[in-house]
Amino acid sequence: EDETPEQEEAAPAADGELITVGFAQVGHESDWRAANTKNYQDTFSAENGYELSFVDCDNDHAVQIETVRGFIEQELDYICIAPIQSAGWDTVLQEAQDAGIPVLIVDRAVDADPSLYTTALGCDMIAEGEAAGNWLAEYLGDKEANILVIEGSVGASATLGRTEGFDNILSQHDNWTKLDSQSGDFTQAGGQEVMESFIKTYGQGGFNVVVCQNDNEAYGAMDAMDAAGITYGVDGDVQIISFDATHDGLQYTLDGKITCNVECNPLQAGFAEEVIKKLEAGEAVDAWTLVKDEAFVAPGIESQYAVTMSQEVLDGRAY
Ligand code: AHR
Repeated sequence: EDETPEQEEAAPAADGELITVGFAQVGHESDWRAANTKNYQDTFSAENGYELSFVDCDNDHAVQIETVRGFIEQELDYICIAPIQSAGWDTVLQEAQDAGIPVLIVDRAVDADPSLYTTALGCDMIAEGEAAGNWLAEYLGDKEANILVIEGSVGASATLGRTEGFDNILSQHDNWTKLDSQSGDFTQAGGQEVMESFIKTYGQGGFNVVVCQNDNEAYGAMDAMDAAGITYGVDGDVQIISFDATHDGLQYTLDGKITCNVECNPLQAGFAEEVIKKLEAGEAVDAWTLVKDEAFVAPGIESQYAVTMSQEVLDGRAY
């Protein structure tokens, strides 16, 4: 399954009661997350036949585990988890399974036996990292790269996957050096703080590529480079690669400030709803549903790996 499912049909339980769904959301760290939360709240509305218990876990793994336990105690019909970190899930997933509650792992992945949950859905984070690396190789040709990486939250599959994917391509290029890599926690403030510290360590002219693992980190990194008088973008000294391709991120890409922006589509609730409808109907569900994404590059750049940004592309971006 990889097409956006239709969402217009309501899915009340057979007895006419609302279907109860718990959503243990990561937090509110980014614009991407806000769009993802809104998409779940819109999709799992009472109007559509659902009662959604939404919990913002504020990027705290322990809170997220206890949230899931609460959903189990409340005997909700389904539990959706967007895992803050990939490790540490076996016990609570076993508890949900023992209680007979189907669990959907959404957005990010867990490092647990797939028999412990019903299904998983989300973007391929390793492929996103590889897309960024492949684009950079095509863009730079034989030129050297001195790369700084502002990673996402520690232990998140989005961070681990994007890092692994980018490093797969980096390892193929002898004249690419990863100078440093630190977590900016997927926030604008984190991105700015890490970039300020990178600038102190490596100085102006010491690097020519900054990889930010989401758009909000890229905004912070741009603020730090502005303050230090470092030029970036297609006409500058430093090329910025970002992830998410939210509306504002793509505006910066259209403006030539972020040179390449790899999408991660936050509109995933329709896929979760499709799974729940199938389970309600007693049908089998796929173990994994891929949410597709693509990459975008600044105007004037042609790439086999990315779409060249235009106003039309930006106008079509809802999040
Ligand atoms: O898991 C998806 C990632 O989480 C998004 O890239 C980031 O913006 C968010 O915080």
